Amino acid sequence: MKIFLDTANLAQIKEAQSLGLLDGVTTNPSLMAKENIQDAEEYRRRIRQICEWVDGPVSAECVTATSEEMVREGRELSEIHPNVVVKVPLIKNGLIACQRLHEEGIRVNVTLCFTALQAWMAAKAGATFISPFVGRLDDVGEDGMNLIRDIKTIYGNYHFKTEILVASVRHPIHVLEAARIGADVVTLPFDVLEKLMKHPLTDIGQARFLKDWEQRPLKATSKKPAASI
Ligand code: G3P
Repeated sequence: MKIFLDTANLAQIKEAQSLGLLDGVTTNPSLMAKENIQDAEEYRRRIRQICEWVDGPVSAECVTATSEEMVREGRELSEIHPNVVVKVPLIKNGLIACQRLHEEGIRVNVTLCFTALQAWMAAKAGATFISPFVGRLDDVGEDGMNLIRDIKTIYGNYHFKTEILVASVRHPIHVLEAARIGADVVTLPFDVLEKLMKHPLTDIGQARFLKDWEQRPLKATSKKPAASI
């Protein structure tokens, strides 16, 4: 299962990169706004910077509404860098744009997916990635991971190539379940990435190993050092 980072923050991307575990990045307009990105020019500059650092797919989301606008914006975004994957919402116009961009050889991530039938439509429209939002489903009392199971079954039944990119991940259990189900990608907020590596028993065990080594009983040496003979 590939690990993407769900952020537009360069420091977080750099740190995740240094672990050697990063396969890609996803951004969205909210994450861009959080970084104080002011206009279209800065938006594109940030996407370019991320693409230059990350050797993998970098999702850049359209901020337009009609299918024509999304196609035009998608083309422009895709010209920023070969790593760019254009992100469109799972609405009628987004699916039309997805199909058109796909026909032009532009990779598309269809986002804001909340049902398996939406995911099926996106696959038929040629999406490279489908982004089901598991955390937001949990927030409204549904089990987000059930959606991943259903999509996995449907895509398997009909041999769709669209990759399941588990999004809106809130905690390590989402990641564990995604791996059990066989999702293709998880996109993680930075804090969840850090949590994946941590366990209190690991820290306690490591501290004890180092302490025991420091306090090991040293044998009295039978031979005296040569210098003192
Ligand atoms: O990748 C989509 C993700 O950023 C949405 O996450 O936590 O805003 O539901 P969240």
